[in-house]
Amino acid sequence: MPLNIRTYHELTEPDRSGLPGQIAAQRRRVAARLAGVGRVVAVMSGKGGVGKSFATAGLARALARAGRAAGVLDADFNGPTIPALLSLPVARCTLHEDGIEPAVSAEGVRCFSMALLLEDGRPLGFRGPEADSHVWRETLEAAALREFLADVAWGPLDRLLVDLPPGIQRFQELAGLLPAPPAVLTVTIPTAESRDAVRRAMQFARERRAELLGVVENMVDGPFAGGAGEDLAREFGVPLLARIPWHPTPDVWEAVARRLEGGS
Ligand SMILES: Nc1ncnc2c1ncn2[C@@H]1O[C@H](COP(=O)(O)OP(=O)(O)OP(=O)(O)O)[C@@H](O)[C@H]1O
Ligand SMILES: [Mg+2]
Repeated sequence: MPLNIRTYHELTEPDRSGLPGQIAAQRRRVAARLAGVGRVVAVMSGKGGVGKSFATAGLARALARAGRAAGVLDADFNGPTIPALLSLPVARCTLHEDGIEPAVSAEGVRCFSMALLLEDGRPLGFRGPEADSHVWRETLEAAALREFLADVAWGPLDRLLVDLPPGIQRFQELAGLLPAPPAVLTVTIPTAESRDAVRRAMQFARERRAELLGVVENMVDGPFAGGAGEDLAREFGVPLLARIPWHPTPDVWEAVARRLEGGS
């Protein structure tokens, strides 16, 4: 028997909210906001705690030092760490009538993060029904991403790095909001567990026609054994951009930035 899947219009008839129109208008606003951005790069990993945010911040700083206009959107709303990694003081973004002006780090990296809106140390809270709050949270986080993309006035940027939380959901939301899928940089640690989780994320991104820029293998001189970086690079036919030790010096990120930008 064929599935009887109802459409939004059938579910909401008569449509007084104009929701499809609102979403279309917001997507146009996102496209207009990002018109001056050369490339959006999503930093992604199927696994938590592997160093996505650490890599995003290191790379953004290196790009800025190399004279590129770099921005970071911290798309991890529950564990926003980018402002701290960029050494930004808290609560330093400015609201204008025309949108949100990003904070700027000492090197010139423009940044927007939920951490810049939250009171120091407070977790993100949503006002909404207590029942099924996990469902509301997902919906509201997707809406927050849409609003940030529509409202942050980045100005001209060569690269906008988007630091994603673990998993693939925020990538999917991001890809659905952008005029074209973002390029993807994946971060893994050497272990087989990380390789398998990151493989799923890379497959997911490739199925959505995102360009895979390469793999960064992090924490290579630590307690983790394995060759996840090389394995993933070979499987997907993409470069292993770097093998990052613990506490890398800034030149390590500068080399990654050069490779990403097509240099040596
Ligand atoms: N190469 C490294 N050298 C030193 N510290 C590192 C390195 N990589 C990551 N860290 C530290 O390890 C911790 C986890 O890294 P990070 O927060 O970047 O991971 P993540 O993948 O973004 O995590 P999440 O999945 O929670 O977003 C952080 O305290 C970070 O500063
Ligand atoms: Mg993170």
